[in-house]
Amino acid sequence: AHNERESLYIALGYARDFFVKSLHSEEGKSIGLSYFKERGFNQNIIEKFDLGYALNGWSHLHEAAKADGFSDEILLKSGLILQKEGDPQRLYDRFRGRVIFTIHNLGGKPVGFGARILTQDKKQPKYINSPETEVYHKSDILYGIFQAKKSIREKDNCYLVEGYTDVISMHLAGIENVVASSGTSLTESQIKLIKRFSDNITVLYDGDAAGIKASLRGIDMILEGGLNVKAVVFPNGEDPDSYARKVGSSAFKDYLESKAQDFISFKIGLYAEETANDPIKQANLIKEVVQSLGKIPDPIIRTVYIRKSADLLGIDEDIIQAELNKIYLKGK
Ligand code: UTP
Ligand code: MN
Ligand code: MN
Ligand code: MN
Ligand code: MN
Repeated sequence: AHNERESLYIALGYARDFFVKSLHSEEGKSIGLSYFKERGFNQNIIEKFDLGYALNGWSHLHEAAKADGFSDEILLKSGLILQKEGDPQRLYDRFRGRVIFTIHNLGGKPVGFGARILTQDKKQPKYINSPETEVYHKSDILYGIFQAKKSIREKDNCYLVEGYTDVISMHLAGIENVVASSGTSLTESQIKLIKRFSDNITVLYDGDAAGIKASLRGIDMILEGGLNVKAVVFPNGEDPDSYARKVGSSAFKDYLESKAQDFISFKIGLYAEETANDPIKQANLIKEVVQSLGKIPDPIIRTVYIRKSADLLGIDEDIIQAELNKIYLKGK
């Protein structure tokens, strides 16, 4: 007898197989596979990431799973099917007419799916994702961790990106130590997951206002977790996927190497222009930097960064230390 979690894993594995198989059906080939090919995804990467296709219809997966003995209860609990609002007897597939990104846990088992729309329909969300379930706690999982863990350990660094396609394009560029926060804000437990393999994270968020805001927040979270953090800024409108495809893998790698900044330089660089001739903004920037410094648990690392900040900001270390003391007095 299986327990419920085990049954969920089996249902999710069944769905993965179904989506992978559907990608190679007539409909899947002409719609899903051709979409992946256009994005430069080859057969090898499609298999490595269990990319698939959800047929366009209300109950393809549900019917198949039912015929193979899965109960509605398990299919509902796995998030694969839904009850119609106002008519709970009516059940329908969550993922329809979309390409599928399988989300694996650390051990490589499918725990959820992200499904991308293929049209420009602005009325529908770009991605539909699995809900939280007994085996998929979003705040504990990072997309790509299963495929990345070995490389994160070997390179002793983890690239952190926003999206599914960023992870995949970076693998295609030969960079395998990469995981995605999947558009949600980074959690303490995700940072702990990375820390099992390396103490170093490089944040590669999208080159737009939202991405920069998320980077700043992520950086503070990472510092609090006691890890070292760098960041790379992409040109406006680019993300790691679009930029890697635009410049090619070798120029992309060079870009990562040459543009990775420690978090202090990243923060100061962001505000450099607007603070240049504005003492008030400059003072705010100093306070911003001090906020981040206050998040570093290790006193030695903190001291190194205080020195560096003082240098870059052109102010005395004592001033930064005095500001920091204020934070500590407030008990953060
Ligand atoms: P992006 O909007 O940057 O998408 O969202 P993307 O990853 O670059 O995708 P492409 O290149 O347009 O295909 C980043 C991540 O946020 C989550 C997804 O995980 C996505 O990969 N997201 C985004 C959602 O969950 N739902 C959405 O509607 C949009
Ligand atoms: Mn649980
Ligand atoms: Mn974005
Ligand atoms: Mn993006
Ligand atoms: Mn993108």
